[in-house]
Amino acid sequence: MHRILIATRNAHKVSEVRTMLGDNFECLTLNEYDGVPEAVEDGETFGDNAAIKANTVADWLRTEERDHEIDYVLADDSGLEVDALDGAPGVHSARFAQEDPVAGNSSDADNNAKLLRMLGEKPDGPKTARFKCILALVSMTEADDGAVYFEGACEGSIQKEASGNAGFGYDPLFIPEGHEKSFAELGEEVKNGISHRSVALAGLSNYFNRDSA
Ligand code: IMP
Repeated sequence: MHRILIATRNAHKVSEVRTMLGDNFECLTLNEYDGVPEAVEDGETFGDNAAIKANTVADWLRTEERDHEIDYVLADDSGLEVDALDGAPGVHSARFAQEDPVAGNSSDADNNAKLLRMLGEKPDGPKTARFKCILALVSMTEADDGAVYFEGACEGSIQKEASGNAGFGYDPLFIPEGHEKSFAELGEEVKNGISHRSVALAGLSNYFNRDSA
C-alpha cells in the first residue's frame, strides 16, 4: 500500500482525494504532523503554487529525516479565471478582495462582491469563466524538487448576482456549462461529478491505476 501525504488541513479536499484513490492508498494529512512550515504561495501559476506547497512539505520531511514514512506528497492549487477580467482573480482567488497581499485570505463574501463590482464596470464583456485545479505529486524517492502535474477545468459563466447556499468561494456566482443554476444551488453531489477538482483527481487516479495495471 502507498502512503500519500496530502498537503492540506481542509477536510473536504482530503475526503475527495480518499474517495478517488480508493483502498490502495493510506492518505495522511498535515493534521498528523507538527511543525510543518507554511508554504509561501508566491507562484505565477496554479502549477507553481501547487508545486511550492508539495515541495515545502517534501523538503521538511527530508530535513526531519522522516521521508521514509511517506511515498508521495500531494498538493493542489485552484481558482477562478474570468475572461472579461483577463483571467483574474486567477492565482489570487483566495485573497482577491485583500488590499494587502501578505495579510492573508479575504472572505468569500468580499471576494464575490469585488468580482461583481469589477464585472459591473464591463457590461459588454464576455460572461465566460472557468474554475481550474492543478495537483502536484512529488515522489519521496526522488531527490530533486520535480513534480508530476494533473489538471482539471470546469467551464461556465458568471451570473449577475449570487444564489444558493451550498459549497464555498465563488460557487454562488458560477453557473457550470450545461446547467442553469449556480454550483451553490446544484449542491455537492452534482458539483463533485463535474468540478475542476474531480477532473484533476481522475487524472491522478488513472496515473496510479496505470502503474498498477
Ligand atoms: P485553494 O486552492 O484552496 O488555495 O483555493 C483558492 C481559492 O479559489 C478559494 O479560496 C476559492 O475562493 C476559489 N476556489 C477554488 N475552488 C473553488 C470551488 O470549487 N468553488 C468556489 N471557489 C473555489
